[in-house]
Amino acid sequence: MEPGKRLPGKVAIVTGGSSGIGEETARVFARHGASVVLCDLQDELGAAVASEIVTAGGKGEYRHLDVTQEDEWTSLVDDVEAKYGRIDVLCNIAGIGRGIDPATGKRNSMDLPDLSLDSWNQVMAVNAAGVFLGTKIVHAAMKRAGGGSIINISSICGLVGSFGNAAYNASKGAVRIFSKSAALQYAKDLIRVNSVHPGFVDTPLARPGLVGNAGKARMDATPLGRYGKPSDIAYGCLYLASDEAAWMTGSELVIDGGMTAN
Ligand SMILES: NC(=O)c1ccc[n+]([C@@H]2O[C@H](COP(=O)([O-])OP(=O)(O)OC[C@H]3O[C@@H](n4cnc5c(N)ncnc54)[C@H](O)[C@@H]3O)[C@@H](O)[C@H]2O)c1
Repeated sequence: MEPGKRLPGKVAIVTGGSSGIGEETARVFARHGASVVLCDLQDELGAAVASEIVTAGGKGEYRHLDVTQEDEWTSLVDDVEAKYGRIDVLCNIAGIGRGIDPATGKRNSMDLPDLSLDSWNQVMAVNAAGVFLGTKIVHAAMKRAGGGSIINISSICGLVGSFGNAAYNASKGAVRIFSKSAALQYAKDLIRVNSVHPGFVDTPLARPGLVGNAGKARMDATPLGRYGKPSDIAYGCLYLASDEAAWMTGSELVIDGGMTAN
């Protein structure tokens, strides 16, 4: 084992790997010795992240995956297990904020009375059903590997309510409690399932809400006085993916600069 590497020999799938938190998590996992299959809808960006990992001496490849599509999950998991012989880690990071109204092409409304059922379903499909599908479909392969770690990205919006998109809060609350039920069911197979709850992290998803008055209010509410960086969350995922977290399951890792401490 190379000294200092925390995921030697592990095979990890990282969704949402083309951007933000997922992109950085893929890089950190690869630096720590994992073979990383990063998945997303943004194919060009994802392929560039994978090639950067390989150029840096790591093991990484990009695969297209729409996390809302069960058949795509099945072929991804089958292919990864066939190619690498095992799957040790699944990091469910892919997510959306508000979604886009297909009729107008504009971002969906945040006001609850104006929130359409289509918008609700769109957010729940990616953020909640996507996590469910991955957690369900990876089970058999992880069991064959003798155990594993599933890391589901929720949010502080899965812990407390907000004036933002209620569908987003609902989807992230679903991830939180779903992860605990999965942890109970999968414990006998030594598959750990934990949720991660980031505060405001500077990524393309969050950036529109980090400027102006909303941004000031969020910064004021963050005791550590800065927005998160993708690496702040990636290192939490690294811990949960590693054997250092062998006795941790059904738990919530809050990484939010102290925002929900008060
Ligand atoms: N940035 C924050 O402040 C923050 C805070 C709390 C939680 N989160 C969560 O962290 C996760 C990552 O968000 P981010 O901030 O890095 O955003 P991001 O937009 O940079 O990355 C999200 C990625 O998910 C991908 N994606 C979206 N729908 C997909 C689908 N159906 N199938 C596959 N991939 C899909 C996008 O293409 C994108 O590359 C999300 O689940 C988000 O809800 C983010």
